[in-house]
Amino acid sequence: MSKQLIVALSKGRILDETLPLLADAGVEPAEDLGSSRKLLFDTNLPDVKLVVIRATDVPTYVQLGAADLGVAGKDVLLEHGAAGLYEPLDLEIARCRLMTAGITGAEPARARRRVATKFVNVARRWYAEQGIQAEVIKLYGAMELAPLMNLADEIVDIVDTGNTLRANGMEPRELIAPISTRLVVNKASMTMKHARIKPLLERLEQAVTARR
Ligand code: ATP
Ligand code: PRP
Ligand code: MG
Repeated sequence: MSKQLIVALSKGRILDETLPLLADAGVEPAEDLGSSRKLLFDTNLPDVKLVVIRATDVPTYVQLGAADLGVAGKDVLLEHGAAGLYEPLDLEIARCRLMTAGITGAEPARARRRVATKFVNVARRWYAEQGIQAEVIKLYGAMELAPLMNLADEIVDIVDTGNTLRANGMEPRELIAPISTRLVVNKASMTMKHARIKPLLERLEQAVTARR
């Protein structure tokens, strides 16, 4: 195992809030991440590199050890599963809720509820726990469209302000889980590179606490 630390960052809305935390922990990209087509970046530290990838790919990189550390939403982690991963730190950014939602005022009519979501594993588990029969339909985005188009009776999606639901004539229903962004660590790396990872974790934790 190399002595390098690879940190996998989620591109998109989490990235802008992750970089200041990393900077406070002493890790800064050697060049501007936004204005580059590169995916692998050097940092001010010779033994730390950053990769910037799709949020949903972060757990895979960390689980399989291609990255030692990762930054990902709890929603993504719940959907992916946590085998091979430690989740030592809540970065307390990108807070939102994973919820069910449906057309405002509409009662679920069918015995077997049609549920559109990109979180198919979370949805299957949750409806089963509630004792509700559900046919889960996998979508990759714009879940809020599915009930309007009569593709589904409900959706499982991220809700923050509720603006997206309201704009589409929908209402939030049940809370599945409160969500925030987490730091994850490959289990083998945590052991093999503990001396290098521990101080980084401590500085990140300080950065999180300082923002409260
Ligand atoms: P992609 O765009 O690659 O399909 P995505 O939509 O999940 O993936 P982002 O929109 O960048 O990617 O969201 C990244 C993470 O931010 C999510 O996993 C979730 O934890 C959180 N998040 C998503 N939407 C919101 C929101 N409206 N408010 C706050 N946090 C959010
Ligand atoms: C996210 C999420 C919801 C919306 C919720 O979408 O998928 O659609 O935010 O936020 P709100 O309650 O404040 O409206 P995003 O903006 O990330 O677009 P996406 O479909 O490209 O993921
Ligand atoms: Mg999104």
